[in-house]
Amino acid sequence: MSNVSRSFKVGIIGGGIGRQHIEGYRALGGRYEVAAICDLNLDLARGLAAEFAIPRATDKLAELLAADIDVVDVCTPPGSHRRLIEAALDAGRHVVCEKPLVGSLADADAVIARAARGPQLVMPIFQYRFASGYQKLLRLIERGVAGPLHVATVETHWRRGADYYAVPWRGKWESELGGALLGHAIHAHDMLCGAAGPIAEVFAFAATRVNPIETEDCAAASLRLRSGALASLSVSLGAAEDMSRLRFCFRDLTAESAQAPYNPGTEPWRFVPMTPEIGTRIDAALADFTPEPERFAGQFLRLHRTLADGAALPVTLADARASLELVTALYHAAATSQVVSLPIGPGHPRYASWRPVGAGKGV
Ligand SMILES: NC(=O)c1ccc[n+]([C@@H]2O[C@H](COP(=O)([O-])OP(=O)(O)OC[C@H]3O[C@@H](n4cnc5c(N)ncnc54)[C@H](O)[C@@H]3O)[C@@H](O)[C@H]2O)c1
Repeated sequence: MSNVSRSFKVGIIGGGIGRQHIEGYRALGGRYEVAAICDLNLDLARGLAAEFAIPRATDKLAELLAADIDVVDVCTPPGSHRRLIEAALDAGRHVVCEKPLVGSLADADAVIARAARGPQLVMPIFQYRFASGYQKLLRLIERGVAGPLHVATVETHWRRGADYYAVPWRGKWESELGGALLGHAIHAHDMLCGAAGPIAEVFAFAATRVNPIETEDCAAASLRLRSGALASLSVSLGAAEDMSRLRFCFRDLTAESAQAPYNPGTEPWRFVPMTPEIGTRIDAALADFTPEPERFAGQFLRLHRTLADGAALPVTLADARASLELVTALYHAAATSQVVSLPIGPGHPRYASWRPVGAGKGV
């Protein structure tokens, strides 16, 4: 655990998923104080302030930025992220920002360039990483127990219906910026990249088969990783029940995640060894593994170590860019029926926007 004697004041913008962020900060003892909440819906902000004893509620960004806070936590719909991140940095605050970080690789690179001027930090949210089963997998990889990866599969099979899409910004290219590949599967795909490393090539099909929306709600994709390993992604918002699952076939063990839809990194994970000797090495590597808080509390605890003790950020802008680079490649592959090579830089036709031609600011 980190040095509890330093407490950081947080101002949250957006009271939807922002509620779970508040609960995450509050689960960490005195490490954080949620000092202000801002939502365009002032009644919502006031309600959260009353429920969680937050001293200041406002519907105005300027009032939130003028408050005595160290960190601005952006929990608004994706189209507003870049503007709010830059406003918070200009006001001298550290920034936490929900996924997806921004709406294009060009915007991601602009945020990266702005953040590089410092001294404030920007931490994108990828809370699925901070769960014990997945952390055990990372340890087995780091310690050389798993061996090289052969193949991986990632399934994001969730159920979303009309009630979910009744929220006006969802399901539209202009305001949600993408569909299931961007908004829902991004966490599991981030976990794949965290364990398997950078991607070399992508092919994908995407379709809208479940709900009457603009954006895709089903997808199938094939990836070749730079290591030579192969991965398959399956995404649907039309499953009968919510389930997320990752499976990794390494040379020396096969790892399979839990199926908790919004926390597949949590226990129990299965680590099946190729031989009894490898089983002994797995047991030895995990013998002193100490579970830590998961999801938002887990990510905020690690951020506290960064702010208080100078530890490395638990999720970086480069991680968020990598996730958006995969999104860009998936959309381009699906639209053109071509295999897409990574990395993707300014010369790529979808660098400025992954959205289809004619949708919002699409290319
Ligand atoms: N990490 C996760 O697991 C996770 C889960 C859900 C949503 N999200 C992300 O969180 C973000 C918000 O999603 P949500 O589901 O909470 O949306 P939501 O629509 O439920 O809530 C967003 C809130 O932000 C407010 N808002 C919008 N623009 C604002 C602005 N400029 N200033 C102040 N308040 C503003 C709205 O009034 C609303 O109350 C999205 O980027 C989404 O992708 C992440």
